[in-house]
Amino acid sequence: MRTLLKNGTAVLPSGEKKCDILIEDGRIARIVPQIQITGGAISGETHGANHVKAQAADKNSNQVNDIQIIDCTGKHILPGLIDIHVHLREPGFEGKEDIQSGCAAAVKGGVTQVCCMPNTDPVCDNAVVVTYIKTRAEQAGLCKVHPIGAITKGEKGETLSDIGKMKSAGAVALSDDGKSVMDSRIMRLAMEYASDFSLKCLCHCEDASLADGGSVNEGYNATVAGLKGIPRAAEDIMIARDIALAESLGVPVHICHVSTYSGVEIIRSAKARGVKVTAETCPHYFILTDDIITGYDTFTKVNPPVREQKDVEAIIKGLKDGTLDCIVTDHAPHALKDKQVEYALAACGISGIETSLALSYTYLVKTGKLTLCELMQKMSANPAAVLGLRGGELKEGEPADVTVVDFSGKYVIDGEKFVSKGKNTPFNGFEVYGVVNYTFVDGDLKYKAD
Ligand code: DOR
Ligand code: ZN
Ligand code: ZN
Repeated sequence: MRTLLKNGTAVLPSGEKKCDILIEDGRIARIVPQIQITGGAISGETHGANHVKAQAADKNSNQVNDIQIIDCTGKHILPGLIDIHVHLREPGFEGKEDIQSGCAAAVKGGVTQVCCMPNTDPVCDNAVVVTYIKTRAEQAGLCKVHPIGAITKGEKGETLSDIGKMKSAGAVALSDDGKSVMDSRIMRLAMEYASDFSLKCLCHCEDASLADGGSVNEGYNATVAGLKGIPRAAEDIMIARDIALAESLGVPVHICHVSTYSGVEIIRSAKARGVKVTAETCPHYFILTDDIITGYDTFTKVNPPVREQKDVEAIIKGLKDGTLDCIVTDHAPHALKDKQVEYALAACGISGIETSLALSYTYLVKTGKLTLCELMQKMSANPAAVLGLRGGELKEGEPADVTVVDFSGKYVIDGEKFVSKGKNTPFNGFEVYGVVNYTFVDGDLKYKAD
Protein backbone atom coordinates (compact mmCIF):
# COMPACT_ATOMS: atom_id res chain seq x y z
CA MET A 1 0.00 0.00 0.00
CA ARG A 2 1.20 3.45 -0.93
CA THR A 3 -0.09 6.61 0.70
CA LEU A 4 -0.30 10.04 -0.86
CA LEU A 5 -0.61 13.02 1.48
CA LYS A 6 -2.13 15.61 -0.82
CA ASN A 7 -2.16 19.41 -0.58
CA GLY A 8 -0.74 19.75 2.93
CA THR A 9 1.83 22.20 4.27
CA ALA A 10 4.98 20.28 5.11
CA VAL A 11 7.33 21.51 7.80
CA LEU A 12 10.71 20.90 6.19
CA PRO A 13 14.17 21.86 7.50
CA SER A 14 14.15 24.65 4.88
CA GLY A 15 10.78 26.00 6.00
CA GLU A 16 7.06 25.47 5.51
CA LYS A 17 6.13 24.36 2.00
CA LYS A 18 2.87 23.42 0.32
CA CYS A 19 3.48 20.00 -1.18
CA ASP A 20 2.44 16.42 -1.74
CA ILE A 21 4.19 13.58 0.02
CA LEU A 22 4.24 10.03 -1.28
CA ILE A 23 4.86 7.21 1.17
CA GLU A 24 6.01 3.93 -0.32
CA ASP A 25 7.48 0.78 1.24
CA GLY A 26 7.56 2.47 4.65
CA ARG A 27 9.64 5.37 3.40
CA ILE A 28 9.10 8.91 2.24
CA ALA A 29 9.42 8.37 -1.51
CA ARG A 30 8.67 11.88 -2.80
CA ILE A 31 8.22 15.39 -1.47
CA VAL A 32 7.21 17.59 -4.41
CA PRO A 33 4.85 20.50 -5.08
CA GLN A 34 2.39 18.32 -6.98
CA ILE A 35 2.10 14.61 -7.52
CA GLN A 36 -0.06 13.41 -10.39
CA ILE A 37 -1.70 10.06 -10.62
CA THR A 38 -2.97 8.62 -13.86
CA GLY A 39 -4.14 5.04 -13.96
CA GLY A 40 -2.03 4.14 -10.96
CA ALA A 41 1.15 5.65 -12.38
CA ILE A 42 2.67 8.44 -10.34
CA SER A 43 4.74 11.34 -11.49
CA GLY A 44 5.95 14.30 -9.52
CA GLU A 45 6.09 17.86 -10.75
CA THR A 46 8.89 19.92 -9.38
CA HIS A 47 7.03 23.12 -10.26
CA GLY A 48 3.65 23.85 -8.80
CA ALA A 49 2.33 25.64 -11.88
CA ASN A 50 0.80 22.72 -13.72
CA HIS A 51 -1.58 21.64 -11.07
CA VAL A 52 -3.02 18.24 -11.89
CA LYS A 53 -5.37 16.75 -9.35
CA ALA A 54 -5.09 13.14 -8.35
CA GLN A 55 -7.62 11.33 -10.47
CA ALA A 56 -9.51 8.72 -8.57
CA ALA A 57 -10.61 5.79 -10.72
CA ASP A 58 -13.93 5.85 -8.90
CA LYS A 59 -14.89 9.46 -8.16
CA ASN A 60 -16.34 8.58 -4.75
CA SER A 61 -13.29 6.75 -3.56
CA ASN A 62 -10.03 8.14 -2.33
CA GLN A 63 -8.17 5.11 -3.49
CA VAL A 64 -6.53 4.60 -6.86
CA ASN A 65 -5.30 1.04 -7.32
CA ASP A 66 -3.11 0.51 -4.28
CA ILE A 67 -2.73 4.20 -3.47
CA GLN A 68 -4.48 5.63 -0.44
CA ILE A 69 -4.98 9.37 -0.95
CA ILE A 70 -5.39 11.57 2.11
CA ASP A 71 -6.54 15.11 1.55
CA CYS A 72 -4.38 17.32 3.78
CA THR A 73 -5.77 20.66 2.65
CA GLY A 74 -5.44 23.14 5.53
CA LYS A 75 -3.31 20.72 7.54
CA HIS A 76 0.37 20.52 8.40
CA ILE A 77 2.58 17.54 7.74
CA LEU A 78 5.25 17.18 10.39
CA PRO A 79 8.15 14.84 10.99
CA GLY A 80 6.87 12.45 13.67
CA LEU A 81 7.61 13.86 17.11
CA ILE A 82 10.47 12.29 19.07
CA ASP A 83 10.03 12.36 22.83
CA ILE A 84 13.24 11.36 24.59
CA HIS A 85 11.86 11.56 28.13
CA VAL A 86 8.90 9.27 28.77
CA HIS A 87 7.87 6.95 31.60
CA LEU A 88 6.15 3.87 30.19
CA ARG A 89 6.07 2.19 33.65
CA GLU A 90 6.40 -1.38 32.36
CA PRO A 91 7.68 -3.64 33.87
CA GLY A 92 6.20 -3.36 37.31
CA PHE A 93 3.87 -0.40 37.40
CA GLU A 94 1.30 -1.47 34.81
CA GLY A 95 -1.47 0.04 36.96
CA LYS A 96 -0.07 3.46 36.01
CA GLU A 97 0.74 2.70 32.35
CA ASP A 98 2.03 -0.13 30.22
CA ILE A 99 3.96 -0.18 26.97
CA GLN A 100 0.79 -0.73 24.92
CA SER A 101 -1.18 2.11 26.54
CA GLY A 102 1.81 4.45 26.62
CA CYS A 103 2.52 3.90 22.94
CA ALA A 104 -1.16 4.38 22.08
CA ALA A 105 -1.02 7.69 23.94
CA ALA A 106 2.19 8.60 22.08
CA VAL A 107 0.80 8.11 18.58
CA LYS A 108 -2.37 9.99 19.59
CA GLY A 109 -0.05 12.84 20.51
CA GLY A 110 1.70 12.68 17.13
CA VAL A 111 4.79 11.02 18.64
CA THR A 112 6.48 8.31 16.57
CA GLN A 113 9.53 7.57 18.74
CA VAL A 114 9.91 7.54 22.51
CA CYS A 115 12.81 6.92 24.86
CA CYS A 116 11.61 5.39 28.09
CA MET A 117 13.10 5.97 31.51
CA PRO A 118 14.40 3.07 33.60
CA ASN A 119 12.61 3.72 36.94
CA THR A 120 10.48 0.61 36.53
CA ASP A 121 10.24 -2.47 38.77
CA PRO A 122 12.64 -4.14 38.28
CA VAL A 123 14.70 -1.13 37.32
CA CYS A 124 15.98 -1.25 33.75
CA ASP A 125 19.61 -1.68 34.83
CA ASN A 126 20.52 -4.77 32.79
CA ALA A 127 20.25 -6.23 29.30
CA VAL A 128 17.33 -8.51 30.17
CA VAL A 129 15.01 -5.62 31.01
CA VAL A 130 16.19 -3.64 27.96
CA THR A 131 15.34 -6.65 25.77
CA TYR A 132 12.01 -7.16 27.52
CA ILE A 133 10.96 -3.55 26.85
CA LYS A 134 11.96 -3.78 23.20
CA THR A 135 10.05 -7.04 22.78
CA ARG A 136 6.92 -5.64 24.41
CA ALA A 137 7.15 -2.54 22.24
CA GLU A 138 7.35 -4.69 19.11
CA GLN A 139 4.29 -6.59 20.27
CA ALA A 140 2.44 -3.31 20.81
CA GLY A 141 3.44 -2.35 17.25
CA LEU A 142 2.65 1.35 17.60
CA CYS A 143 5.59 3.72 17.94
CA LYS A 144 9.32 3.10 18.10
CA VAL A 145 10.54 2.58 21.67
CA HIS A 146 14.16 3.09 22.76
CA PRO A 147 14.96 2.02 26.32
CA ILE A 148 17.17 4.15 28.56
CA GLY A 149 19.27 2.14 30.98
CA ALA A 150 19.86 3.07 34.61
CA ILE A 151 23.20 4.65 35.50
CA THR A 152 23.41 2.70 38.75
CA LYS A 153 22.06 -0.67 39.84
CA GLY A 154 18.52 -0.27 41.11
CA GLU A 155 18.95 3.51 40.68
CA LYS A 156 20.47 3.34 44.14
CA GLY A 157 23.38 5.62 43.24
CA GLU A 158 25.98 3.15 44.53
CA THR A 159 27.22 0.74 41.85
CA LEU A 160 27.36 1.25 38.10
CA SER A 161 24.94 -0.89 36.13
CA ASP A 162 25.87 -3.17 33.19
CA ILE A 163 26.43 -0.30 30.78
CA GLY A 164 28.09 -2.20 27.94
CA LYS A 165 25.61 -5.07 28.01
CA MET A 166 22.68 -2.67 28.02
CA LYS A 167 24.14 -0.83 25.05
CA SER A 168 24.49 -4.12 23.16
CA ALA A 169 20.85 -4.93 23.97
CA GLY A 170 19.70 -1.59 22.55
CA ALA A 171 19.79 1.03 25.32
CA VAL A 172 20.20 4.48 23.74
CA ALA A 173 21.21 6.48 26.85
CA LEU A 174 21.68 6.27 30.61
CA SER A 175 19.75 7.95 33.43
CA ASP A 176 18.78 7.49 37.07
CA ASP A 177 15.77 9.72 36.36
CA GLY A 178 13.59 10.37 39.37
CA LYS A 179 16.71 11.40 41.27
CA SER A 180 20.30 12.51 40.89
CA VAL A 181 23.30 10.27 41.39
CA MET A 182 24.33 12.09 44.56
CA ASP A 183 27.85 10.63 44.78
CA SER A 184 29.93 12.80 42.44
CA ARG A 185 32.67 10.20 42.09
CA ILE A 186 30.16 7.61 40.90
CA MET A 187 28.66 10.14 38.50
CA ARG A 188 32.09 10.94 37.12
CA LEU A 189 32.83 7.25 36.58
CA ALA A 190 29.43 6.82 34.94
CA MET A 191 30.10 9.63 32.47
CA GLU A 192 33.48 8.13 31.59
CA TYR A 193 32.08 4.63 31.03
CA ALA A 194 29.07 6.00 29.18
CA SER A 195 31.27 7.84 26.74
CA ASP A 196 33.38 4.70 26.18
CA PHE A 197 30.16 3.12 24.91
CA SER A 198 29.06 6.26 23.04
CA LEU A 199 26.17 6.78 25.42
CA LYS A 200 25.08 10.01 27.08
CA CYS A 201 23.98 10.47 30.67
CA LEU A 202 20.61 12.20 30.92
CA CYS A 203 20.75 14.00 34.24
CA HIS A 204 17.79 14.51 36.55
CA CYS A 205 19.22 17.39 38.54
CA GLU A 206 18.21 17.63 42.17
CA ASP A 207 20.35 17.79 45.28
CA ALA A 208 18.43 15.44 47.56
CA SER A 209 19.59 17.07 50.78
CA LEU A 210 18.37 20.50 49.63
CA ALA A 211 15.11 19.20 48.19
CA ASP A 212 14.59 17.44 51.52
CA GLY A 213 11.18 15.99 50.74
CA GLY A 214 9.68 19.27 49.52
CA SER A 215 6.66 19.23 47.23
CA VAL A 216 6.56 22.58 45.43
CA ASN A 217 8.74 25.50 44.43
CA GLU A 218 10.16 27.31 47.45
CA GLY A 219 8.64 30.78 47.51
CA TYR A 220 5.62 32.90 48.35
CA ASN A 221 3.01 30.39 47.18
CA ALA A 222 4.61 27.53 49.11
CA THR A 223 4.48 29.65 52.26
CA VAL A 224 0.86 30.69 51.69
CA ALA A 225 -0.17 27.10 50.98
CA GLY A 226 1.82 25.74 53.91
CA LEU A 227 3.67 23.32 51.66
CA LYS A 228 7.38 22.55 51.96
CA GLY A 229 9.37 24.16 49.19
CA ILE A 230 12.24 22.98 46.98
CA PRO A 231 14.70 25.81 46.25
CA ARG A 232 16.00 26.48 42.76
CA ALA A 233 19.47 25.85 44.14
CA ALA A 234 18.64 22.15 44.57
CA GLU A 235 18.37 21.92 40.79
CA ASP A 236 21.05 24.44 39.86
CA ILE A 237 23.77 22.85 41.99
CA MET A 238 23.37 19.54 40.23
CA ILE A 239 23.17 21.15 36.77
CA ALA A 240 26.44 22.93 37.58
CA ARG A 241 28.03 19.75 38.97
CA ASP A 242 27.10 17.59 36.01
CA ILE A 243 28.34 20.25 33.60
CA ALA A 244 31.59 20.53 35.58
CA LEU A 245 32.10 16.77 35.40
CA ALA A 246 31.35 16.65 31.67
CA GLU A 247 33.60 19.62 31.03
CA SER A 248 36.53 18.18 32.95
CA LEU A 249 36.19 14.82 31.18
CA GLY A 250 35.49 16.35 27.79
CA VAL A 251 32.38 14.19 27.36
CA PRO A 252 28.84 15.19 26.40
CA VAL A 253 26.02 15.47 28.94
CA HIS A 254 22.28 16.11 28.68
CA ILE A 255 20.32 18.01 31.34
CA CYS A 256 16.74 16.83 31.91
CA HIS A 257 13.62 18.96 32.46
CA VAL A 258 15.13 22.39 33.18
CA SER A 259 12.74 24.43 35.34
CA THR A 260 14.77 27.36 36.72
CA TYR A 261 15.84 30.68 35.19
CA SER A 262 19.21 30.21 36.89
CA GLY A 263 19.64 26.73 35.43
CA VAL A 264 19.07 28.14 31.94
CA GLU A 265 21.84 30.67 32.64
CA ILE A 266 24.29 27.98 33.81
CA ILE A 267 23.68 25.97 30.63
CA ARG A 268 23.93 29.07 28.41
CA SER A 269 27.33 30.03 29.77
CA ALA A 270 28.59 26.42 29.56
CA LYS A 271 27.55 26.22 25.92
CA ALA A 272 29.26 29.56 25.26
CA ARG A 273 32.60 28.16 26.41
CA GLY A 274 32.19 25.04 24.32
CA VAL A 275 31.00 22.43 26.81
CA LYS A 276 29.16 19.58 25.06
CA VAL A 277 25.95 20.11 26.99
CA THR A 278 22.41 19.74 25.67
CA ALA A 279 19.21 20.35 27.59
CA GLU A 280 15.48 19.81 27.55
CA THR A 281 12.41 21.34 29.13
CA CYS A 282 8.71 20.42 29.23
CA PRO A 283 5.46 22.27 28.43
CA HIS A 284 4.54 22.66 32.12
CA TYR A 285 7.72 24.66 32.74
CA PHE A 286 7.02 27.21 30.01
CA ILE A 287 3.26 27.47 30.67
CA LEU A 288 2.56 27.11 34.40
CA THR A 289 3.68 28.99 37.49
CA ASP A 290 3.37 27.95 41.12
CA ASP A 291 0.23 30.10 41.42
CA ILE A 292 -1.63 26.89 40.55
CA ILE A 293 -0.48 24.99 43.65
CA THR A 294 -2.59 27.06 46.01
CA GLY A 295 -5.62 25.01 44.93
CA TYR A 296 -3.87 21.89 46.33
CA ASP A 297 -4.64 19.98 43.15
CA THR A 298 -2.12 17.14 43.27
CA PHE A 299 -2.14 16.91 39.46
CA THR A 300 0.08 20.02 39.64
CA LYS A 301 2.73 18.15 41.66
CA VAL A 302 5.77 17.40 39.54
CA ASN A 303 9.48 17.07 40.06
CA PRO A 304 11.15 19.48 39.53
CA PRO A 305 8.25 21.71 40.55
CA VAL A 306 6.73 24.43 38.37
CA ARG A 307 8.34 27.73 39.36
CA GLU A 308 7.57 31.42 38.82
CA GLN A 309 6.96 33.87 35.98
CA LYS A 310 10.63 34.79 35.64
CA ASP A 311 11.46 31.11 35.17
CA VAL A 312 8.76 30.70 32.52
CA GLU A 313 10.15 33.69 30.64
CA ALA A 314 13.76 32.50 30.89
CA ILE A 315 12.83 29.04 29.64
CA ILE A 316 11.05 30.48 26.60
CA LYS A 317 14.08 32.68 25.93
CA GLY A 318 16.34 29.65 26.35
CA LEU A 319 14.29 27.72 23.80
CA LYS A 320 14.45 30.62 21.37
CA ASP A 321 18.21 31.19 21.59
CA GLY A 322 19.12 27.49 21.51
CA THR A 323 20.21 27.11 25.13
CA LEU A 324 17.41 24.57 25.51
CA ASP A 325 17.56 22.07 22.66
CA CYS A 326 14.51 19.90 23.18
CA ILE A 327 10.93 19.91 24.34
CA VAL A 328 10.08 16.58 25.97
CA THR A 329 7.07 15.58 28.03
CA ASP A 330 8.50 13.75 31.07
CA HIS A 331 5.23 11.84 30.54
CA ALA A 332 4.71 10.51 34.07
CA PRO A 333 1.38 8.69 34.29
CA HIS A 334 0.10 7.80 37.75
CA ALA A 335 -2.91 5.90 39.04
CA LEU A 336 -5.60 8.03 40.64
CA LYS A 337 -4.91 6.45 44.02
CA ASP A 338 -1.31 7.77 43.85
CA LYS A 339 -2.65 11.31 43.42
CA GLN A 340 -5.79 11.27 45.60
CA VAL A 341 -3.88 11.78 48.82
CA GLU A 342 -2.68 14.90 50.62
CA TYR A 343 -0.34 17.07 48.56
CA ALA A 344 2.88 16.22 50.42
CA LEU A 345 2.28 12.49 49.95
CA ALA A 346 1.09 12.55 46.34
CA ALA A 347 3.19 11.06 43.53
CA CYS A 348 5.07 13.51 41.31
CA GLY A 349 4.34 13.65 37.63
CA ILE A 350 2.19 14.81 34.75
CA SER A 351 0.64 12.68 32.02
CA GLY A 352 1.72 14.80 29.10
CA ILE A 353 2.30 12.94 25.87
CA GLU A 354 -1.18 13.51 24.41
CA THR A 355 -1.15 17.26 24.93
CA SER A 356 2.45 18.26 24.34
CA LEU A 357 2.17 19.28 20.69
CA ALA A 358 -1.04 21.30 21.13
CA LEU A 359 0.21 23.01 24.30
CA SER A 360 3.57 23.85 22.72
CA TYR A 361 1.95 25.13 19.54
CA THR A 362 -0.59 27.21 21.47
CA TYR A 363 1.85 28.74 23.96
CA LEU A 364 4.95 29.08 21.79
CA VAL A 365 3.94 29.37 18.13
CA LYS A 366 0.54 31.08 18.34
CA THR A 367 2.06 33.61 20.71
CA GLY A 368 4.92 34.31 18.27
CA LYS A 369 7.67 33.11 20.61
CA LEU A 370 8.87 30.37 18.21
CA THR A 371 8.21 29.63 14.56
CA LEU A 372 6.62 26.32 13.68
CA CYS A 373 9.94 25.22 12.14
CA GLU A 374 11.73 26.04 15.38
CA LEU A 375 9.13 24.10 17.34
CA MET A 376 9.64 21.04 15.16
CA GLN A 377 13.37 21.28 15.72
CA LYS A 378 12.74 21.20 19.48
CA MET A 379 10.26 18.32 19.25
CA SER A 380 11.79 16.16 16.54
CA ALA A 381 15.12 17.05 14.87
CA ASN A 382 17.07 18.02 18.00
CA PRO A 383 15.89 15.10 20.17
CA ALA A 384 17.01 12.76 17.38
CA ALA A 385 20.37 14.53 17.18
CA VAL A 386 20.92 14.53 20.96
CA LEU A 387 20.64 10.73 21.12
CA GLY A 388 21.82 9.88 17.61
CA LEU A 389 18.45 8.44 16.60
CA ARG A 390 17.38 8.14 13.00
CA GLY A 391 14.60 10.55 11.99
CA GLY A 392 13.50 14.01 12.96
CA GLU A 393 13.12 15.51 9.51
CA LEU A 394 10.87 14.97 6.50
CA LYS A 395 13.33 13.76 3.87
CA GLU A 396 13.05 11.60 0.78
CA GLY A 397 14.39 8.11 1.41
CA GLU A 398 13.92 8.28 5.18
CA PRO A 399 11.48 6.10 7.17
CA ALA A 400 7.97 7.54 6.89
CA ASP A 401 7.42 8.65 10.49
CA VAL A 402 4.93 11.39 9.76
CA THR A 403 2.26 13.29 11.68
CA VAL A 404 -0.63 15.17 10.07
CA VAL A 405 -2.07 17.88 12.29
CA ASP A 406 -4.77 20.53 12.02
CA PHE A 407 -3.45 23.56 13.89
CA SER A 408 -6.72 25.43 13.37
CA GLY A 409 -8.50 22.66 15.26
CA LYS A 410 -9.28 23.86 18.78
CA TYR A 411 -10.24 21.73 21.77
CA VAL A 412 -10.44 21.82 25.54
CA ILE A 413 -8.11 19.45 27.38
CA ASP A 414 -9.88 16.77 29.38
CA GLY A 415 -7.65 14.19 31.05
CA GLU A 416 -10.57 11.79 31.32
CA LYS A 417 -10.39 11.42 27.55
CA PHE A 418 -6.71 10.40 27.54
CA VAL A 419 -5.92 6.95 26.19
CA SER A 420 -3.00 6.88 28.62
CA LYS A 421 -3.88 5.17 31.88
CA GLY A 422 -2.57 8.31 33.58
CA LYS A 423 -5.31 10.95 33.66
CA ASN A 424 -3.13 13.25 35.78
CA THR A 425 -2.94 16.55 33.94
CA PRO A 426 -2.91 20.04 35.43
CA PHE A 427 -4.15 21.34 32.05
CA ASN A 428 -7.80 20.29 32.37
CA GLY A 429 -9.96 23.06 30.92
CA PHE A 430 -7.11 24.64 28.90
CA GLU A 431 -8.17 25.54 25.38
CA VAL A 432 -5.50 24.52 22.84
CA TYR A 433 -4.93 24.43 19.09
CA GLY A 434 -3.57 21.41 17.27
CA VAL A 435 -5.58 18.29 16.57
CA VAL A 436 -3.51 15.31 15.43
CA ASN A 437 -5.37 13.72 12.52
CA TYR A 438 -3.01 10.94 11.45
CA THR A 439 0.22 9.42 12.75
CA PHE A 440 2.30 7.14 10.52
CA VAL A 441 5.20 5.03 11.71
CA ASP A 442 7.37 3.47 8.98
CA GLY A 443 4.55 4.32 6.59
CA ASP A 444 1.86 2.44 8.54
CA LEU A 445 -1.11 4.36 9.89
CA LYS A 446 -0.92 3.96 13.68
CA TYR A 447 -3.42 6.63 14.73
CA LYS A 448 -6.36 8.28 13.05
CA ALA A 449 -8.58 10.83 14.79
CA ASP A 450 -12.30 9.91 15.05
O1 DOR B 1 7.60 14.34 38.29
C1 DOR B 1 8.34 13.40 38.06
N1 DOR B 1 7.85 12.16 37.87
N2 DOR B 1 9.67 13.60 38.01
C2 DOR B 1 10.53 12.58 37.92
O2 DOR B 1 11.71 12.83 37.86
C3 DOR B 1 10.05 11.19 37.94
C4 DOR B 1 8.69 11.10 37.42
C5 DOR B 1 8.04 9.79 37.70
O3 DOR B 1 8.66 8.75 37.47
O4 DOR B 1 6.86 9.77 38.11
ZN1 ZN C 1 13.32 13.54 36.26
ZN1 ZN D 1 11.22 11.73 34.16
